[in-house]
Amino acid sequence: MNIAILTSGGDAPGMNTFLSNFVKLANVENFSVSAFKCGFQGLVENNIVHLTSKDVDNISHLGGSYIKSFRSKDFVTKFGFENAVKNLKTNNIDILVILGGDGSKKGTEKLAKAGIKTIFVPSTVDNDLTYTQRSLGFDSALNIAVDTVDKIKQTMLSLNRIFICEVMGRQCPDLAIQTSIATNACYTIKDKKDMNLSIIFSAIQTALSTGEDSPLIIARENVLDIQDLASKIQERFNRETRASVIGYIQRGTSPSVYDRILANQLSTLSINLIKKDISNVSLGVIDNKVSYINF
Ligand code: F6P
Repeated sequence: MNIAILTSGGDAPGMNTFLSNFVKLANVENFSVSAFKCGFQGLVENNIVHLTSKDVDNISHLGGSYIKSFRSKDFVTKFGFENAVKNLKTNNIDILVILGGDGSKKGTEKLAKAGIKTIFVPSTVDNDLTYTQRSLGFDSALNIAVDTVDKIKQTMLSLNRIFICEVMGRQCPDLAIQTSIATNACYTIKDKKDMNLSIIFSAIQTALSTGEDSPLIIARENVLDIQDLASKIQERFNRETRASVIGYIQRGTSPSVYDRILANQLSTLSINLIKKDISNVSLGVIDNKVSYINF
């Protein structure tokens, strides 16, 4: 059995944990594992390397992707896609395992339609794949976001400042909502609808009048200019206000315990599915269980 694996799009903490366990389990079954480096771009360019258990022995606890990731523009062209299919056939790949987010899932389904056996593993800090309750990487990013807000809060509190923190998520509000709950924010900006200044001011007013020294607002990225909002809040309350983008430390972190366990469960399930010749499925946490659905 010749298995290939690739990681696509923004890397997610837990990708390496998955890869490490997957290769080890595959080798126990005498399956060969190769990686297309740099995601779908590596598939288009036939950038393939063979992986042994030894190669992935000490990467389980690391963030990022050992086999590199990429947002490939070439793969979505007719020429690039045909090359990708050709390279899978030339390398005699029996099944391709793809780790990524929403766009990578679409790419996986397209390959399946072209007759390639695939398995999709949800891996994105955004948690924007609707069929699964969790994607690999989300919990790690959430923990870093909460930890960072806690740290920022110490200095804001010392100076009685109001503050805004922006978290990742692309168009998905999950990171913003859960960070907000975990840090007792007085207001959450999930999308444009939440950008109502009088409601924001009123939430801050309530927080101040109930004794909070440093009311906090959590905003999802791609909604607003948080520096601009900070200036408006400062003017309205005559109180220093600061805004921070938490940024890439959410993505570049080591996987959390939850993500390490999830990655191990997803890789074990992948190998079990391959052993049973089940393919063209998306794995995830469905009804609170690590499971899969057909495309
Ligand atoms: O999809 C993961 C993600 O980290 C998003 O949260 C963010 O909007 C985007 O990737 C950033 O992409 P890039 O690494 O290309 O700047």
